[in-house]
Amino acid sequence: CGIVGYIGYREAYPIVIKGLKRLEYRGYDSAGIMLFDGKELGISKTKGKVSDLEEKSKALASSKATIGMGHTRWATHGVPNDINSHPHVSNSGNLVIIHNGIIENYEPLKKELIKRGYTFTSDTDTEVLVNLIEDVKKKDNLKIGKAVQIALNQVVGAYAICVFDKEKPDEIVVARLGSPLAIGVGKDEFFVASDASPFIEYTSNAIYLEDEEMAIVRLNKPLKIRKIKDDSLVDPYVQELQMNLEQIEKGGYDHFMLKEIYEQPNVIKDTYRGRLLANEGIIKMAGVEDNIEKFLHAQRILIIACGTSWHAGLVAEYIFEEFTRIPVEVEYASEFRYRNPIIHQDDVVIAISQSGETADTLAAIKLAKEKGAFVFGVCNVVGSSISRETNAGAYTHAGPEIGVASTKAFTTQITVLTMIALRLAKAKGTLSNSDFHRYLQELEVIPEKVQEALETNDKAKEIAEKFKDASNCLYLGRGYNFPVALEGALKLKEISYIHAEGYPAAEMKHGPIALIDEQMPVVVIAPKQGHYDKVVSNIQEIKSRSGKIIAVVTKGDIQVKDLADHIIEIPETSDALSPLITTIPLQLLSYHIAVMRGCNVDQPRNLAKSVTVE
Ligand code: G6P
Repeated sequence: CGIVGYIGYREAYPIVIKGLKRLEYRGYDSAGIMLFDGKELGISKTKGKVSDLEEKSKALASSKATIGMGHTRWATHGVPNDINSHPHVSNSGNLVIIHNGIIENYEPLKKELIKRGYTFTSDTDTEVLVNLIEDVKKKDNLKIGKAVQIALNQVVGAYAICVFDKEKPDEIVVARLGSPLAIGVGKDEFFVASDASPFIEYTSNAIYLEDEEMAIVRLNKPLKIRKIKDDSLVDPYVQELQMNLEQIEKGGYDHFMLKEIYEQPNVIKDTYRGRLLANEGIIKMAGVEDNIEKFLHAQRILIIACGTSWHAGLVAEYIFEEFTRIPVEVEYASEFRYRNPIIHQDDVVIAISQSGETADTLAAIKLAKEKGAFVFGVCNVVGSSISRETNAGAYTHAGPEIGVASTKAFTTQITVLTMIALRLAKAKGTLSNSDFHRYLQELEVIPEKVQEALETNDKAKEIAEKFKDASNCLYLGRGYNFPVALEGALKLKEISYIHAEGYPAAEMKHGPIALIDEQMPVVVIAPKQGHYDKVVSNIQEIKSRSGKIIAVVTKGDIQVKDLADHIIEIPETSDALSPLITTIPLQLLSYHIAVMRGCNVDQPRNLAKSVTVE
């Protein structure tokens, strides 16, 4: 999802197209452009890549228009197709919008607008927003800037928008809440973009809008920034950009993986936004509500996935069984599909996949469907093959994941699966009312705790320095944190090429203990909740064999602190939600080790982001 806008004296078409290409790294499934040459709007949009857009918009390429906007869309509401692509135009044909983000309350707004005579051609929340702006503008005969402001105050959700009004052809109105937006300030020209990469060669002066701010970008006028809520003026802070193109694309981080690790507080919020209403005690996900009977009658839940998604499935097994008392089996898609699995009519199959394209998972889904199962998908990429092949599903709203080693996809998958389990537990009465409400409240503050867990970065780096030359590493955890141990080991293997194994802490004595000597780093996940004393005993077993202990513990822990060589302290949460927190330092640890070993963190050798072969 990316936004580009231009207003100035140069031809807009090449600037917008090149800008969109620069934003391709953000991931998208359709693209569009709007130009205004003083008389007519030229709009072109298409499913596919920016190169497809170039092909389709050839007629616009020679346009002399000096005002334009472009968009790459990463679908949230409505499948990726030509009609759902941006820009969207209001009913009068005067207003044009491009939008990143999600308007959560678009349904009631849309109903109201339909009552007032508005019609819609797409399934998007964005088309609702542009007509809401038009409606507000017409009702009180307002200027476009004011109308945008009033409309945004009626909207719940996240956005970065650019709005163009044919009646005000020398300005673009921009606003942001939750999605990034930068304004490039040139001489007699302005640029607008999701990050500075589309305009870095034209100007190094940029203003980054903050949340809840809007601006009218107008030719020959000083830029004014206002608070959307109370209309107060904000002093524009013009930053001089020091970064090069590649650094900008990575948001200033050295690698996409690190950027994605740091995005987790926000994307977890995006994932539960509009679905979790903690104060009202409500969890709602359309795909679950529509099929609630299927879930409630399930005698068994089968989870199929590969790689990191399979680990999220293992966490879900613990959560589902605890919360809903429905038996769960988790299986590698590649094994499931080749062993003539037994599937009953009243089984629910959940397929988990970040990319939605993994060949084994897709084949397993087809097999499960053939055998009459109801298959529910948990995917990140909207409109992906798996999301289309499944009977129903829920998206994780993690945004594009570029680093091959999965990070934010994992924690958002767990978030979705936890919400499903809670929804079912409520209907089945398998959790007490007070536990149910407690979990909702806790889930709501998870992003803050993830943020706090990210503060272990320096510590992780310090520990990485000590163990970067290890040739083996063991990860141990129990209960909810056993899958986290597997995931921690996988992260290290994937990006640093150090052999690592995850094990249930107690099972260590049946094998891996033989490997322990003073060279062997052992990462133990030992939060205060959940079998703490048992894990402490396991730590003692390692210590008496001179293993090097790196322990992830709850803040304020004293017992493990005395035993371990290194500790990483994380905030406290309930046992069931702890994987969302304990995972974070393990991601950071493997990241730093890989960097120190000089590995290609974002594209490790031999691995692919989306494995479309079996
Ligand atoms: C590949 C990726 C992993 C991912 C796995 C499953 O191996 O490198 O990061 O976990 O595929 O992918 P999926 O898109 O189905 O979650």
